[in-house]
Amino acid sequence: MPALVLIGAQWGDEGKGKATDQLGGLVDYVVKFNGGNNAGHTVVVGDETYALHLLPSGILSPGCIPVIGNGVVIDLAVLFQEIDGLEARGVDTSRLVVSADAHVIPSYNRVLDRVTERFLGSRKIGTTGRGIGPTYADKMNRVGIRVQDLFDEKILRQKVEGALTLKNHVLVKVYNRKAVTADSVVEELLGYVERLQPMVRDTGLLLSTALHEGRTVLLEGGQATLLDVDHGTYPFVTSSSATSGGACTGSGIPPNRIDKVIAVVKAYTTRVGEGPFPTELTGDGQDGVDGERLRTVGHEFGTTTGRPRRCGWYDAVIARYAARVNGVTDFVLTKLDVLTGWDTIPVCVAYEVDGKRFDEMPMTQTDFHHATPVYEYFAGWTEDISQARTFEDLPENAQRYIRALEQMSGAPFSSVGVGPDREQTLALRDLLR
Ligand code: IMP
Repeated sequence: MPALVLIGAQWGDEGKGKATDQLGGLVDYVVKFNGGNNAGHTVVVGDETYALHLLPSGILSPGCIPVIGNGVVIDLAVLFQEIDGLEARGVDTSRLVVSADAHVIPSYNRVLDRVTERFLGSRKIGTTGRGIGPTYADKMNRVGIRVQDLFDEKILRQKVEGALTLKNHVLVKVYNRKAVTADSVVEELLGYVERLQPMVRDTGLLLSTALHEGRTVLLEGGQATLLDVDHGTYPFVTSSSATSGGACTGSGIPPNRIDKVIAVVKAYTTRVGEGPFPTELTGDGQDGVDGERLRTVGHEFGTTTGRPRRCGWYDAVIARYAARVNGVTDFVLTKLDVLTGWDTIPVCVAYEVDGKRFDEMPMTQTDFHHATPVYEYFAGWTEDISQARTFEDLPENAQRYIRALEQMSGAPFSSVGVGPDREQTLALRDLLR
């Protein structure tokens, strides 16, 4: 079972951290292949809760080598803060490996991310403000700074000066901010070299050698399918490839080495930031009450920014889309326990747009913005399910809900989460079969 991809099926925050952490104990490498410190994994191990933004969650599994792949953008200050925070709690981080080709987030891109959002006003994306978008834009514009550039001061200075030629015009003339000096950027980046250098490897080669030797590699996606820059709800997306295709480009592992694609999907839906969300529960009426209840019971507040997450019912159109775009072989259903106590639970099975039914994602942004959910209603349950450890332990209505979701979502469900702890998981099938 050499290479597994694990991605989010919705708009992120599906509980990928727990799933990765559970698999982390069974695999040899965990690779983060996209995104940066815009991600937020909360992992609970025993009494300890870890909030990771940049480090792969495999960092918590003693036998596993965590890898930051070439598709990632790295804020070096955050990298070392997270490492120091974990070390202070007794977690050994010495196995961490960082790709020489990953891009770094220079300080000017954090500034640009925030001022651009302000400038956009009502058209803002609702980014995490971490400089992610501008850094991926630099990568595509070929003015990015890569990890390996830090090891050649002359090249680093040339690249920073090159990038600032344009950036300073934008900062000063468009946003009315102070120009940034190349010296200050170079000095800051060089300050990390001593600690960074021992971690840096040709990670594509490392992973390919590992696969040839029969090792198991888990490729962990940040964000999720509908935040993918190509397949998500553009332009309300992140700037990287968060789908299974991104696992290949962001790590250097070829597509024909991928054996399984595991998608994490929450038993309801959440979204942070702006953009369309057909099953969102808002307003002053019952919808607003239900939305607030999902948010409170599910602790739906951003791990990275603390923002309240927008909440809504399960959307099977999205799940089917995620199954198709990613080639999902297994779904991991999370947070079923949050739905305990509702009389009936609506599930979106299709959309209606201007009187026309859509069983698949509409082709255009305009249609998706106008999509209203077609709901099917399922009987709820009141029993506490957090202690359930097998499918048979669940009340009949919870079993029916899971079976119904599985049938309409386009791939088998391998496990169901009934609480934040590692043990609060019901295996339906062996994920590593
Ligand atoms: P950016 O990734 O900071 O550029 O933000 C772009 C969009 O992706 C915004 O709507 C963010 O709220 C969203 N986003 C980025 N990372 C995550 C995540 O890990 N979970 C959920 N939403 C995210």
